[in-house]
Amino acid sequence: MVTRALAGRLLTFTALAIVVYGAPNVVPPALRGVPNSVTEEINLDNTLTDAETIVSTVLVVDQKDGPKADTPPNLPVAETVVTAVDGVLTEAGATNSSNVRRRMLQTRHYSGAHELKKKRAISDYNVVFSGTGTGLTDRDASIQGTAYLTFRVVPNSTYNVEACLDFCSSEPKCVFANLYYELNNEALDHFDHEQSNLKCAIYGDVHTAVEKTNFGGQQSYRTGDSLTYIQQSGGWASKELVEPDAPEGYELVFGPTNGANNAPGYMGFAFLDKYDVDACARECNYRGADGRGGACQYFNIWRAVVAGVPTTYSCSMYYIPADASTAVNYGQGDLQVTFSRGYKRKNYITDGGFEGYTECSDFCFTESYASWIGTSPAGGYLDATIFYFNAYAHSGHGSALLGSATFADSLAGILTLTENLQTEAGKKYRVGFFQNSAFSGQTLQADAFVEVLWNGEAAKTYRVRDEGFSPEWKWVEVDVVARGNDVLAFRGGKAPAWTFLDDVALWPMFQ
Ligand SMILES: *[C@@H]1O[C@H](CO)[C@@H](O)[C@H](O)[C@H]1NC(C)=O
Ligand SMILES: *[C@@H]1O[C@H](CO)[C@@H](O)[C@H](O)[C@H]1NC(C)=O
Repeated sequence: MVTRALAGRLLTFTALAIVVYGAPNVVPPALRGVPNSVTEEINLDNTLTDAETIVSTVLVVDQKDGPKADTPPNLPVAETVVTAVDGVLTEAGATNSSNVRRRMLQTRHYSGAHELKKKRAISDYNVVFSGTGTGLTDRDASIQGTAYLTFRVVPNSTYNVEACLDFCSSEPKCVFANLYYELNNEALDHFDHEQSNLKCAIYGDVHTAVEKTNFGGQQSYRTGDSLTYIQQSGGWASKELVEPDAPEGYELVFGPTNGANNAPGYMGFAFLDKYDVDACARECNYRGADGRGGACQYFNIWRAVVAGVPTTYSCSMYYIPADASTAVNYGQGDLQVTFSRGYKRKNYITDGGFEGYTECSDFCFTESYASWIGTSPAGGYLDATIFYFNAYAHSGHGSALLGSATFADSLAGILTLTENLQTEAGKKYRVGFFQNSAFSGQTLQADAFVEVLWNGEAAKTYRVRDEGFSPEWKWVEVDVVARGNDVLAFRGGKAPAWTFLDDVALWPMFQ
């Protein structure tokens, strides 16, 4: 037991240290020294979800879409795009962005597309609305709505509901199909090899008759003055909406409900052109960390319905995991929150917070315990340790210390995670952690540093000399590539330039 064994030697070491280094009178961590750092909790009062900006952006974003007269059929379903970020519309969310333009923007690749578990049959759909007849004077309109996927022309010897719903069933993201005739479209009448004017447009969200707003009226024939028009526009919805699988590295916390989170640790939002949990996870993964709060650890995705019409898919990000208890924002005015789900990022390190060290209930430290092992170089003493002491922790009671705990030397210690990481070779991961290099104050901390060792190699070195002194805990992160069974360690400390570590995380970055 390090603590007990040390009790009699601590004073000796301290006295010795002062003689050896001639350093000012610093009481080292092993003697319960008082940190020269800001330990107060982050004030979370002003970090709640900015619902006001989300609402005002919902009211201006335009991501409604559908096939145009000149859109070629059978385009692949485009990847999800962001239509707004933190209240600013992207090009894809602006009113006059055409779907062709939008497609050109859709270059991001998501590997996480999940297949439907069972293939749907025609009986798995309900009619949402029916179309007009096909008489000379009958005029109808096709859907202009959110989460447009693509369209196909289907054989028009009959009003071919079956072919259209088969098409929808073949596309995992499809939950709604709009089948209609488009007349006076030169490409359909003469050029497409399908030789059919019956269009089947598919969507990743369900739309209703109020969204039949595309009446045609486009000039398609190069000669003559006949404009395109629509007949018999019917809509079918899958009886079951696709229940998304949790994205890689996340777990479902709640949902679907009709309440969005109003929670602290809010980092901002993005609107997506589809309800796509993988795309939202990606936004969370790549959102820049909050200096004090750290990285995104949770997201809340929901569908915004304005006056009954699906309008956008909101993705809010948080550095503090939230849950259903704060999912109480149901909308306001015409805006309704629907299909709200919360997902928490899974930390692949089980005890990254050093909370598993519970040798005492107030103050103690050790060189190793089940989760982490501290080692000192030759001639070093207690150069990497784990503390149980609230005042030294970023959260909870546990933290790790780099640099001789007793100030016996100024050598750098190594703290190694005992578990080999369950990583997939060749994949990218992110290591993130909070570090505090403020214990001895600005002058004495100048040489503080910490290295992230990934399989023994330095993946990143954080130096106070480069980053500047901070009296607070600061978040540090680095991306690494796994080779499988990877070993994570930290090296650092140069007493009295100590560095504390806490809340170490490892996250997959596959999205
Ligand atoms: C939309 O139209 C406005 C005015 O014509 C133009 O300034 C803007 O760049 C256009 N936006 C897009 C996305 O095309
Ligand atoms: C099928 O579509 C073709 C091409 O537009 C058109 O010429 C033909 O009249 C349509 N047939 C029926 C039965 O609507």
